[in-house]
Formats: sequence, C-alpha cells, structure tokens
Amino acid sequence: PVGTKLIGKHVVLTAGPTREALDPVRFISNHSSGKMGYALAEAAAAAGAKVTLISGPVHLACPAGVSRVGVSSAQQMYDAVMSAVQKQCDIFIATAAVADYRPESVADQKIKKNNDEMIVRLTRNPDIVAAVAALPEKPFTVGFAAETNDVLNYAKGKLARKNLDMIVANDVSDLSIGFNSDSNRVSVLWKDGQHDFGKRPKTQLAQDLIDFIADIDGRHLGA
Ligand code: C5P
Repeated sequence: PVGTKLIGKHVVLTAGPTREALDPVRFISNHSSGKMGYALAEAAAAAGAKVTLISGPVHLACPAGVSRVGVSSAQQMYDAVMSAVQKQCDIFIATAAVADYRPESVADQKIKKNNDEMIVRLTRNPDIVAAVAALPEKPFTVGFAAETNDVLNYAKGKLARKNLDMIVANDVSDLSIGFNSDSNRVSVLWKDGQHDFGKRPKTQLAQDLIDFIADIDGRHLGA
C-alpha cells in the first residue's frame, strides 16, 4: 500500500444497486454504477486497510487487495453486511443505492400478461446503514445522501435519523456529477462540521474522502 493511515483497520463498504425480484426473470432496480463505492474500496486498500466490499450487480472489476462479496437483493446485502461487521469493523461506508422497496411476493413462475393492468404490492426493505449504526459496537459509520433539492437539509436529517457519524451529500440534479458520471462534487457533514469537496474525478475524490474519514475517525476514537 502507498498509504499507512488505515493499517490495522477493517473497512466494510456497500456499493452498486440492488435487484428486487418480481419473478424468475424480472426485477426492480436502479442506475447506480457502483463507481464511487469501488473507488472508495480501492482508496481504503491503498491506505493500508483490510477491505470488504459488499456489492450489488455492477460492471466493474474488483480492485486489487479488496475482498468482494457479490449480492443481488437488499436482504442479501443486509445479511452479508451483518456477517462482515460482526467480526471486527472499524469503518463502515454505505454507498449502495439500496432499493427502498421490494415486491411483497416473488412469483414462482414467469408472470403472464393476462390483463391490461397489473398491481404490484411493495414492502419496505431494511435500512442497512441504520442497522449498522444501531449496533452496540458501532463502527465509524458513513452514509451517502443523493438528493435533487434541499441537498444539505435532507443530508442533515439523514445524519441524525440514521445515527451516522458522517454523511456525504451529493446533488444528483446535476447530471455532470453523481450516478453514472466519472466526476463528483460533494459536501461532507458531521455533528459539528461541514467540508466541501469541489468537482473532481471519483477516483481522486475517493482518495480525498478516505484521507478525511481516517483523520476524523482518528480524532473521534482518540477523544
Ligand atoms: O434514505 P436514503 O436511501 O436516501 O439514504 C441513503 C444512505 O443510506 C446511503 O448511504 C445508502 O447506502 C444507505 N441505505 C442503506 N439501506 C437502505 C437504504 C439506504 O444502507 N435500505
């Protein structure tokens, strides 16, 4: 590793979308590329951490030195995260675009188009980052907030409601940053502060964020 800041630390991350099955051949999902999460995993490994990346289906190669656990649904992601953080976990970073809802039931056979309308009943998925932040031995927990309006206010609400140590706020109404693009511009918020990271490639931003998280976590643990 190039850096040494995270030597001896176990960093667990989620990345990518989840897929919520309707039947054996169909699912509900979203356009998350996984780029930000994979870049953060790579940066954490480069800083000397042991890294576990719990990933939904994406078209990205696993970064060198990272152990990847592939999952599909939110429930599978939740189970994989809970088992990964059970041992020792120092920092948990949730970048995954977890589907908020899943079909209440999954059809055993391919659904037929017998009617002009079809109603799908959905049920809430577990909130993975909030579950990690509620653990008695809570790692330093970082969430992401992708918003189209009132970005900082919604991010602050999530920071408090999910009991996070830090949240990375991302304005996804600007198509040149966020989701599928290679660049991002974010603001990082925590209990008593805010730091803005101007637009830069996701790989650079990932290194800067890992550096920042390592420093704040160091202060937090040392306090
Ligand atoms: O509430 P919202 O989905 O906007 O919160 C975003 C943050 O929460 C992200 O860090 C995302 O990875 C995490 N999240 C999660 N489990 C969910 C929903 C969101 O870990 N079911």
